[in-house]
Amino acid sequence: MGNITFTMIKPDAVGSHYIGPILEQINAAGFQIIALKLLKMSKEDAGRFYVVHKDRPFYNELTQYMSSGPIVAAVLQKDQAVTEFRKLIGATDPSKAEPGTIRQRFAKSIAANAIHGSDSDENALIESAFFFSELERF
Ligand code: CMP
Repeated sequence: MGNITFTMIKPDAVGSHYIGPILEQINAAGFQIIALKLLKMSKEDAGRFYVVHKDRPFYNELTQYMSSGPIVAAVLQKDQAVTEFRKLIGATDPSKAEPGTIRQRFAKSIAANAIHGSDSDENALIESAFFFSELERF
């Protein structure tokens, strides 16, 4: 393993018409999109997806926000995908993200931070399977 990561383009970025530019930057960085869909999560869906954060003070805000509009969910393939993708998207807080990263370019705030990227190979598989049951075929 080690060559797959999972991403979501978040409601702020979808609502600001950034799907195209963000996917272009992902492609230009050498990631293959191996699964992709546009959907809207319920608050319960978002709660299950982010269950690891359930004791954090921002959990309610996070799940409310992530269910506030459509998102793009995708599975990406590249060598060292998790690490490489986290470099591409930049720090969680966009005010701390490196110039040229996706969050520095497109995010509005720490909550509305444009894009999600898995933090480990294990979570990449769990998160991919959350949205794509057909992933077993990849
Ligand atoms: P993400 O990479 O999707 O994983 C968890 C998300 O929680 C994170 O991006 C942020 O959008 C969000 N988050 C982290 N810290 C805070 C915070 N202090 N306030 C609001 N949201 C946060």
